[in-house]
Amino acid sequence: MELDKLTDQKKEALLKKQKEYLFPNHLLYYTEPLPLDRGEGLRVWDVEGNEYLDFFGGILTTSVGHNRPEVTQRVQEQTEKIIHSSTLYPNESHINLAEKLAQLAPGDIQVSYFTTSGTDANETAIFLAQTHTGHQEVVALRHGYSGRSALGMSLTAVGSWRSGGTHVAGVKHALNPYCYRCPLKLKYPSCGVACAEDIEEVIRTTTSGKIAAFIMEPIQGVGGFITAPDDYIKTAHQIIKHYGGLFISDEVQTGFGRTGHKWFGIEHSGVEPDIMTMAKGIANGFPLGNTMTTKDIAESTLKAGLTISTFGGNPVACAASLGVMDVLENEATPDRTATLGKQLRAGLDRLQEQFPIIGDVRGKGLMQGLELVKDPQSKEPAPKAATQLMDAAKKHGLLIGKGGLYGNVMRIAPPMTATEDDIQMALDLLHKALSDIA
Ligand SMILES: Cc1ncc(COP(=O)(O)O)c(C=O)c1O
Repeated sequence: MELDKLTDQKKEALLKKQKEYLFPNHLLYYTEPLPLDRGEGLRVWDVEGNEYLDFFGGILTTSVGHNRPEVTQRVQEQTEKIIHSSTLYPNESHINLAEKLAQLAPGDIQVSYFTTSGTDANETAIFLAQTHTGHQEVVALRHGYSGRSALGMSLTAVGSWRSGGTHVAGVKHALNPYCYRCPLKLKYPSCGVACAEDIEEVIRTTTSGKIAAFIMEPIQGVGGFITAPDDYIKTAHQIIKHYGGLFISDEVQTGFGRTGHKWFGIEHSGVEPDIMTMAKGIANGFPLGNTMTTKDIAESTLKAGLTISTFGGNPVACAASLGVMDVLENEATPDRTATLGKQLRAGLDRLQEQFPIIGDVRGKGLMQGLELVKDPQSKEPAPKAATQLMDAAKKHGLLIGKGGLYGNVMRIAPPMTATEDDIQMALDLLHKALSDIA
């Protein structure tokens, strides 16, 4: 049988089994889903052998490219020593990673609690804030995404990701600084980030006035790369402190140099958070979440009951993460990411000039979004065009992501080991895809 027929059958068989044996609510990208088979650097291949340039990295997770030797080698070495220990036994990789992250984290943020996902990291952060402050209520931002547990969905404020389940009480949502669609119909910067005042209004009207925490993503990932102005973050921080809350920066997407120049997205604003959560890019795809805080705040956990995480700080995942940090410190540094981010942004700005469907270009570093609209005047969201663009980009060999409340934001975030040529190639392929759907 011919090779392409064989691979066709393999794909069909896989998709059939996916339908039969996996929950039907797995969201699959593309009109025809794409079973990936292998990856190398920024390239991935599907089961039919088609090659793609990966500018989404499995949701900003493949931070240093696929099959990166520094990561793979450490994983192999660790696997041969010990795969699992649980948090009941100290382990070298676990401890070394905590030490490394303490060196990278801003301010007094020094200590870690490792888990296995971003959801788990945020659960841990809220628990920590509640324990430390003795308060219960939490303020989050509209359009934010925090995870898939009951608390994660309650913190989340994109309706389609809050699906069902019993929501946790005591979570309130403030207006977010979505400047392209300003909730107050004002213009930045003349607005003076008036939307930040809503945080105070929310605290005073919908909580007891004593909050445990405020949680925000410096750039909202799932929400469509909505980028909070630095002065918004500063004002939000002042308000939170005034009402006795801890400031949690969710760095699940913005961490590890992704936004350029700084290791963590929050650092651009000059605000020192009390707690940071991270996952995704921390270990290039190994399941690892982490909640970091100051020594003082971490001490409060002793007031609470016992806790373990069976898989938290898994030695193999931590070894992978140490490999990631090696590459990020020595090669794909935050400064280099900033330079590549400038190149990417300049190219996207040029595309916006050519294609009026691109209403907004936003982001920082190698985390750039394109909001698609029916026309730039009405700004009416164009979710169908976004689906078409995803398919067209795939046809031309480029993988990008999609998000936003209206499903109309393209998310572009390659591994940080990308080269200038990779960026140029992605821009060329995107141009082709936009021309197809124009
Ligand atoms: C900002 C942010 N926080 C938390 C999460 C939850 O992470 P996970 O899917 O690893 O549970 C995500 C996932 O997309 C995220 O983008």
